[in-house]
Amino acid sequence: MIQTPKGTYDVLPADAARREVVEAHARKVLGAAGYERIETPAFEVTDLFLRGVGEATDIVQKEMYTFDDGAGRSLTLRPEGTAPVCRAYIQHGMHKRPQPVKLWYLGSFFRAEAPQRGRYRQFSQVGAEVVGSSAPATDAELIVLLGQLLDVLGARETRLALSSLGTPETRAEYRDELAAYLHVHADRLSPEVRSRIDLNPLRAFDATDPGTRETMRDAPKLLERLAAEDAEHFAEVRALLDDAGVRYHLDPTLVRGLDYYTRTVFEFSSAALGAQSGVGGGGRYDRLIEQLDGPATPACGWAAGVERILLSAAELPVAPRLVDLFVALAKPAGVRTAFALTGQARRAGLQAQLELAGRSLRGQLKHADRIGARYVAIVADGSVAPVSLKDMESGEQRETDAENVIPTILRASRLA
Ligand code: HAM
Repeated sequence: MIQTPKGTYDVLPADAARREVVEAHARKVLGAAGYERIETPAFEVTDLFLRGVGEATDIVQKEMYTFDDGAGRSLTLRPEGTAPVCRAYIQHGMHKRPQPVKLWYLGSFFRAEAPQRGRYRQFSQVGAEVVGSSAPATDAELIVLLGQLLDVLGARETRLALSSLGTPETRAEYRDELAAYLHVHADRLSPEVRSRIDLNPLRAFDATDPGTRETMRDAPKLLERLAAEDAEHFAEVRALLDDAGVRYHLDPTLVRGLDYYTRTVFEFSSAALGAQSGVGGGGRYDRLIEQLDGPATPACGWAAGVERILLSAAELPVAPRLVDLFVALAKPAGVRTAFALTGQARRAGLQAQLELAGRSLRGQLKHADRIGARYVAIVADGSVAPVSLKDMESGEQRETDAENVIPTILRASRLA
């Protein structure tokens, strides 16, 4: 039997309804703040991610679905959305629009990771990016909006971690300092961390083995090395979050798995999730547009995993689907009248369904009850034959002309 590929899943109707709730709230929360929807392709030229996400990252080194398009071009299923949004910003000359450009997206992303609860090879992210502003209020606004979205969706036990990575220059100096420290303590590090000291010493903060963890406790912290203007920017972001009543903890070891970040970084995690506790995160990426050959443009954003939001939000209020009218057939001969009546009901704005399974009349009434139909119209036969309209709430049933069915239901629903 053919099944879904490893790390993928089907969205069945009950799940689809929950995902629609996430989308509707994202549209509402982000739309109210002036963010506009953007969609980029599911695959991009591989170079975008090599240059955008960073060659030393796990994403680029081990997790990308890269393929030849048959004409010698290397393409990659997008592992994230920030580099594509920046590509679009540059490609469409969005720097000529009033700044900043505020965008949001929701779509599928692909990473060849080891699947587990909350970690898939195809997953969905909702994301927001603000391109063209260096104001600390931008960082704060983005964080507030993600917090608000998680709140309205009922994500449980969330915590916000906040830090600043400074500029690439500060970071380079700090990296050297940290690498030197790691070399001095190399014998206490895991082989994996040891082998990556010069490639990406920051990742040592992510390690889980006790030796490395202990070593990292006393390691120099980037937050203590920030240049004056970066420290100031960070202080302003924090002041705005404090004023907004947003609770966070400073995590000087917060490492994000992407290389483009500068200054502010943040991550919401949920204790209601297992090992994959990161619900959503992001930060500022002031050099990325330039790195992709666009004009130097500051930017900031985040993305949150839709599956992880849903896992962390136990109860999402999903409005039950209302069936206004079920059109039943007393005899197969009535199908033409029934078919027409169902179509008219739908055009009048009612949710209407027609019997399609050849059930007995009793079976049809049972089915109508099961799907929660408010009314059942029982069509006898012929084109002008009267119809029995049954009110499933009161149980009352009466004969009427086919053309009276829809006005009767509409009138009743206006009175209700
Ligand atoms: P990220 O932290 O790699 O950031 O991913 C954001 C969120 O996507 C994670 O917090 C998680 O909820 C979800 N996620 C990531 N990988 C998986 C997976 N394999 N399965 C299920 N969910 C997953 C970014 O992607 C950045 N582009 C965020 C950003 C936007 N930074 C600035 N702007």
